[in-house]
Amino acid sequence: MQQVKTIAQMQELSKQWHFCGDKVAVIPTMGALHEGHLSLIRLAKKYAQKIIVTIFVNPTQFGEGEDLDAYPRPLKEDMHLCDLEGADAVFTPSAQEMYPQGSSTWVDETQVGLGLCGAKRLGHFRGVTTIVTKLFLAVLPDCAIFGEKDFQQLAVIRRMVRDLNFPVEVIGAPLIREEDGLAMSSRNRYLSNEERSNALSLSKSLNYALEEIKNKPSITPEILKGEMHEMIESSGGQVDYIEFLNAESLQELDGFMNAGEIRVLVAAKFGPARLIDNMGLTLG
Ligand code: PAF
Repeated sequence: MQQVKTIAQMQELSKQWHFCGDKVAVIPTMGALHEGHLSLIRLAKKYAQKIIVTIFVNPTQFGEGEDLDAYPRPLKEDMHLCDLEGADAVFTPSAQEMYPQGSSTWVDETQVGLGLCGAKRLGHFRGVTTIVTKLFLAVLPDCAIFGEKDFQQLAVIRRMVRDLNFPVEVIGAPLIREEDGLAMSSRNRYLSNEERSNALSLSKSLNYALEEIKNKPSITPEILKGEMHEMIESSGGQVDYIEFLNAESLQELDGFMNAGEIRVLVAAKFGPARLIDNMGLTLG
């Protein structure tokens, strides 16, 4: 497995692979890799012959007072994991390489990213769409794999790729959970044992809501939001949002009868970690 640090070298390598007839898949990450990321590498192999994992903690998607400095950066361990999973290259540019002095160009999706995390973390998705554009232009991939754990991010990127005609197929991959139900996240490393056990209220409340919807589709989102809120806050979490949305449009639902594909998204803080989780259900 190769480590590539500059955009010029990355483009060159990708062009060589394309010249040889290989398809190239990219898995953009901020490192601190876990089983969820590794599942993306495995999935990528179904779509392409060459797999590139990018590892870059992107400063422009962190707001003031967020965890940019504290964000874990176990690069050696990450590279070892990518190698074991059979990635062909790891792209690890510096901040200077991705944002040269005087950078003043942004890519901004202005609809799908407005609510939820976009409303709570101002400028976050502008940072994501800008870096993903830059990573696409460095890696020149045929396809890109993103986890459904960041459900809104995936929707924002799909919209950006459609609107800007990127020749990149965006593939969403299922969220991966620990055995006890906690959604895998690099930020789980911040949790104490107690906070980690409290954070299980996220997946428990999501499962509860889906069961309730299945059994009583006439129940309202407002009632379920209140119940989920109570479950999470009584376990020590601070709820940021709980939303019931149409999975495709990300429009808020005011009821579940014939709602089609429903996604329930939740964000809450446990100790130092802001965690997100989501689950889906299709109703006829
Ligand atoms: O999901 C992430 O890890 C990041 O938001 C991404 C897509 C790598 C952009 O920095």
